Amino acid sequence: MKKATIQYVCTQCDNKESKWLGRCPRCGAWNSFVEEVVRDVSESQKKSLVSKANKVQPIILEEVIIDKDFSYNSGIAEFDRVLGGSVMRGGSVLLGGEPGIGKSTLMLQFLASIQDKTLLYVSGEESAGQIKMRGERLGLPLQKISLLNETNLETLLHLLYNQKPDIIVIDSLQTLSSREIPSSAGSVSQMRSCSQELVDVAKQVGSTLFFIAHITKEGQIAGPKAIEHLVDTVLYFEQATSGVRIIRAVKNRFGSVDEIGIFLMGDKGLTPVKDPAGFFLDKRKSAILPAGIAFTAVLEGSRTFMVEIQALTIPVKGTYARVYSEKIETARVTRVAAVLERHALIPLSERDIYVNVGGGIRLNEVSIELPLALALFSAATGKSLPASLVSMGELSLAGEVRPVSFADKRIKGALSMGFDKLLLPSNISGQKRGHFYSCDRIDEALKVVEMLSK
Ligand code: TYD
Ligand code: MG
Repeated sequence: MKKATIQYVCTQCDNKESKWLGRCPRCGAWNSFVEEVVRDVSESQKKSLVSKANKVQPIILEEVIIDKDFSYNSGIAEFDRVLGGSVMRGGSVLLGGEPGIGKSTLMLQFLASIQDKTLLYVSGEESAGQIKMRGERLGLPLQKISLLNETNLETLLHLLYNQKPDIIVIDSLQTLSSREIPSSAGSVSQMRSCSQELVDVAKQVGSTLFFIAHITKEGQIAGPKAIEHLVDTVLYFEQATSGVRIIRAVKNRFGSVDEIGIFLMGDKGLTPVKDPAGFFLDKRKSAILPAGIAFTAVLEGSRTFMVEIQALTIPVKGTYARVYSEKIETARVTRVAAVLERHALIPLSERDIYVNVGGGIRLNEVSIELPLALALFSAATGKSLPASLVSMGELSLAGEVRPVSFADKRIKGALSMGFDKLLLPSNISGQKRGHFYSCDRIDEALKVVEMLSK
């Protein structure tokens, strides 16, 4: 039997201590210690490793036989896209998110939509009855899904070796524990060891493994973060507005990491959003926009989304001006406001600035800087922008409007959504249909906007 003890390792300098410490005595870093499991490998085990190693032989890559049943689709296109098209036999996926965001619901819907595979749902969170009730309420076929209420790793491994299910869902990683690890379920060392063993076994028996892991509101992702390197794919569930759930891949050994899947949570569980391109736009009745609103096209993986940037400025309330912005980095908003003030003479420094994004999607592309500047300009001056205007461009500190990546895709997306006035950096080549306006500097951009608003 392998023996294990716990030690604490500084993530900054690799210093090892027997107790957890708030501050590393070697490098001085605060809160840098994480638990780590140390296993004693006895001499006889080492010898057996050597004799095993003598038996293994490498194979010629060309002669590797690929199982034709190597990967499968879930049948939920919005989920498959984030997974990189399909899931791999022997692969492992981590699905993280805050409690209540819909991880268990998604996994149950996912299992129910898989055809002709053996499916195992392991739950340490909810009772069999609760899971059945959820499945029935969602109208899911449940006859193919096996359920196991288990939190012990060794029991689970035993079952996996015997039954070799095609797909296993572990709900959640935080409930699992191994008898060999002296710390409690949910600790970093338990999560690491349990996931490592499960990933290994899944590879050996050819099962695809999904781990559900909780993240707390304060962004305590230490747990799930610590196992990201062990799995092939890492997905995080985030919430845009109340009903909207976005799944984002942050690591994917089998596909792109930029893809997102958009779902709505309703009384039939999670349903994929049908028309994502215009999903984040508000449907307004009036043809005239309120002041402070600008549209742009952002890219998420292979798709273009139209989004609405909203700005509001009011006379400063406190002793100094503040920027309130959650969906666009505050530093970016502050910089764009400074560029507007210096290079287009829009007075903003005596004002508090509020910025938001329609639909609550987070924006972090540089191409949003020109539309953000236009929204701020419109908010500060009270002049509405044309409702069919889309802009894109990066702003330099010198007030220049810089080109953006994948301009063609963004332009195509905007035109297909009915926006026909496009304000672009001047060196973007591409089709010149519709009404294209170009600008090299922020003050030129504002002149175009003023001209269009007349
Ligand atoms: P759940 O999948 O249990 O979340 P997680 O596993 O991430 O903790 O989802 C729970 C939330 O979703 C709960 O607040 C209720 C809501 N919900 C619906 O609105 N509709 C539904 O059909 C289901 C199943 C859940
Ligand atoms: Mg759950």
